[in-house]
Amino acid sequence: MRIGLSYDLKETIPLKPASSDDALEEYDSLETVEIIAAAVEAAGHSVVCLGGGQQFLANILYEKVDLVFNIAEGRGTHRSREAQVPAVLEMLDMPYSGSDPQCLAICLDKPLTKKLVASAGVCTPQWRLITDSHELYQIANCGFSFPAMVKPAYEGSSKGVRLNSVVENPEQAIEVVAGLLELYQQPVMLEEFIVGDEVTVGIINNSPPEVLGMMRVLPRKKTAYFVYSLEVKRNYLELVDYECPAALDEKVLRGIENASLNAFQALGCRDFARVDFRISSEGVPYFLEINPLPGLGTYSDLVIMAQMMKRTHQELICAVLNAALKRYPQCVRV
Ligand SMILES: Nc1ncnc2c1ncn2[C@@H]1O[C@H](COP(=O)(O)OP(=O)(O)OP(=O)(O)O)[C@@H](O)[C@H]1O
Ligand SMILES: [Mg+2]
Repeated sequence: MRIGLSYDLKETIPLKPASSDDALEEYDSLETVEIIAAAVEAAGHSVVCLGGGQQFLANILYEKVDLVFNIAEGRGTHRSREAQVPAVLEMLDMPYSGSDPQCLAICLDKPLTKKLVASAGVCTPQWRLITDSHELYQIANCGFSFPAMVKPAYEGSSKGVRLNSVVENPEQAIEVVAGLLELYQQPVMLEEFIVGDEVTVGIINNSPPEVLGMMRVLPRKKTAYFVYSLEVKRNYLELVDYECPAALDEKVLRGIENASLNAFQALGCRDFARVDFRISSEGVPYFLEINPLPGLGTYSDLVIMAQMMKRTHQELICAVLNAALKRYPQCVRV
């Protein structure tokens, strides 16, 4: 089969002068594109590199492919950016891997996603959304206690989640929120901070989706409030240990598994996703966010998790590709 690969390379993204220093964090490296292409080729397919942005538009109209394996993060700072490539593919009636535009657009909006998972019975920390200076000065009336977490509402890859993201009082919160409003040009969340284990869950397949692994992220240096921040993700080899399967109580693990699958289905995710939780001291999994387009590079959490569950990178890529192909029986030649 001819598999198109859509992606956004860091070096192809134009930066605005006042961009944050993590503006390119979610975009992929050439190395990631190459190992995904190699995995698809090793499964017996040929790969057509389509790229992203305008280059993708030109290529997709010209090249003939059977299915697009999509890892494109999309352009701009719009909360629907991850939906751009899948929306074009739907317009052209072309098969592609992963979730549909509606799911991708919703899941990049953390508050909207939390409302939907909460209505499906999944616990999520309380939060307030701050969109302007009026709401900024209402922070003291947020209705939950400090410490609290401050983060941009429409980001991933820990963009804007830094060492100063845990705030101890309203004054500190106002300062950090004001900084993020200015730098990221989008609403900012103030969220109840959940002290407890950090667990990320990989999901793969459809009808039914299955848990690939549950991985606990353990800080090497104990601090009062661990945050899997940008600084930690950039230096993960020195700062954290990964434990997969997570060595937690069986009942707690079942709770995390149920919450993950429940969120995946409630949001209409497809093929694969990664869901982040903090587990309270009572063993309750608190949903933080879901990534329907999780990183597939060598150093991404899903790949590390898969390898700890004895699956190679190539097997993971093929599992995602096969989950997608099963949804398009017309693509599978017998
Ligand atoms: N309410 C919270 N309570 C405790 N820790 C939190 C909370 N919200 C975020 N964090 C910490 O910040 C990290 C990053 O937050 P979050 O997962 O929302 O950001 P992200 O940028 O979407 O992440 P990803 O890199 O997975 O896309 C979490 O993994 C967790 O360590
Ligand atoms: Mg996360």
